[in-house]
Amino acid sequence: MPLALELDGVDFAYGQGPAVLTDVDLRVAEGEFVAIAGPNGGGKTTLLRLALGLERPTRGAVLLFGEAARTFGARTKIGYLAQRTKIGVHAPATVREVVEAGRAALRPVGRLRRDDHAAVEEALERVGMHELAGRRLSTLSGGQQQRAFIAKALAAHPSLLVLDEPTTGVDVAAQDALGALLHRLHEELGVTILYVSHEFGAVERFVQRLVLVRERIVFDGPPSQLPGLWHDPSHTHA
Ligand SMILES: Nc1ncnc2c1ncn2[C@@H]1O[C@H](COP(=O)(O)OP(=O)(O)OP(=O)(O)O)[C@@H](O)[C@H]1O
Ligand SMILES: [Mg+2]
Repeated sequence: MPLALELDGVDFAYGQGPAVLTDVDLRVAEGEFVAIAGPNGGGKTTLLRLALGLERPTRGAVLLFGEAARTFGARTKIGYLAQRTKIGVHAPATVREVVEAGRAALRPVGRLRRDDHAAVEEALERVGMHELAGRRLSTLSGGQQQRAFIAKALAAHPSLLVLDEPTTGVDVAAQDALGALLHRLHEELGVTILYVSHEFGAVERFVQRLVLVRERIVFDGPPSQLPGLWHDPSHTHA
């Protein structure tokens, strides 16, 4: 499979600050579902920002779909839910308007066409938000808001979906529902998924690979091979 993402010998620090990432090698093939975990401050968000070309490595190379990440052109191939997405949560927009905005990213000029509206409805359906589509985002629970933002990303039919701590403030049942939703998206659409969280219990059953980041990549393999002391004690399945 061609690579969606490649980091080669990457070091990174913010300005003159201490090393945040050191000697990171990571290859993610198209179609993989990968969880990236690690402690607070371990460098997960920074790793994503490097991967998406939002930061420049101090050393090494970062490629997105084979192109230099910093100048990668096909931005609409990427759906990115940044950490603690609060955008719009207090704004009066409805769920459907938020998802339409995701689709409109493909149409910088002009109104949404019929096929765009179909893509919006399909994305709402996929995340189970169709019935709530007319609701204002500000009236929804945290888990429902997260699903609306996932629908926003899906509406543009991304090849790569990147979620940074999508379960912040979401209870364990909703975390499991999100894990199951991502599993379905991965199975049915073949979308490449990077799921970043300091806890990975919600997706542990579904991912082929778990990558643990603590300045360096300290583990990269199937969750079943994770040494016991790394397991996430905060998450249990009934
Ligand atoms: N804009 C910034 N300027 C300077 N230092 C930063 C900046 N962003 C992050 N850092 C530092 O870089 C390190 C890694 O931060 P990062 O946000 O990548 O960690 P994380 O693994 O995503 O943590 P969390 O689990 O809390 O989201 C931390 O020590 C943090 O203080
Ligand atoms: Mg983070």
